[in-house]
Amino acid sequence: MQVTLKVFRYNPEVDKKFHYETYNIDVEENERILDLLELVKGHHDGTLSFRRSCAHGVCGSDAMRINGRNMLACKTLVRNVGDKITVEPLLGLKVVKDLIVDMEPFFDNYKKVLPYFINESPLPADGKERLQSPEQRARFDETTKCILCAACTTSCPSFWGSDDYLGPAALVTAHRFIFDSRDEAASERLQIISETSGLARCHTTYNCTMACPRDIHITQAIGELKLATLTGKVE
Ligand code: SF4
Ligand code: F3S
Ligand code: FES
Repeated sequence: MQVTLKVFRYNPEVDKKFHYETYNIDVEENERILDLLELVKGHHDGTLSFRRSCAHGVCGSDAMRINGRNMLACKTLVRNVGDKITVEPLLGLKVVKDLIVDMEPFFDNYKKVLPYFINESPLPADGKERLQSPEQRARFDETTKCILCAACTTSCPSFWGSDDYLGPAALVTAHRFIFDSRDEAASERLQIISETSGLARCHTTYNCTMACPRDIHITQAIGELKLATLTGKVE
């Protein structure tokens, strides 16, 4: 099939403002948007810039707006978006070049929630690891699946309004550790996400949940965090 691919282009070294380039290309309907971008880069314009690494939905590096919705280019098939395709960078983060955005504010917010396991207690005397029941492990299973693609945070109107809002991805990471029975820093993290740049900025818009390529129920996870801050209970 033939598709018309419209691509956002902006090179701050030469362009005063962004523009769109249109490419008419022949593709198989089962090809992915990432394949189209590789084709344009390889055969039409080698200066086209975009991030990608794994090409299999694992690394989270190729989130972008495809026909107005945040998606991973490597997980989106042409047949699912049609023959008129517009590809643009994520909203709410500064464009570095073409489809590449500056992820620093996103990762700065991620770091604020202490995204690592904290347990200062000595290991059990019998030399065993810190054990956890299947139920305890299941409590935070879903939020371990985040690949930090930023599709959720950059679809959130509260984040568009102010990038000092921690955003859904950072809150998902906070959830992953707060509900881990082996971690000892839940109250510290609850304090961090209760500050003005945290949970209070979530107005339950659901855009984040709709955008997540890992199908994480983000709004529900944020709701569980809100309840934990109100009750002081992590269970
Ligand atoms: Fe991406 Fe989902 Fe993680 Fe958000 S929660 S960064 S959308 S994988
Ligand atoms: Fe934003 Fe998701 Fe809350 S889109 S407002 S973080 S439910
Ligand atoms: Fe890794 Fe798409 S290239 S998730």
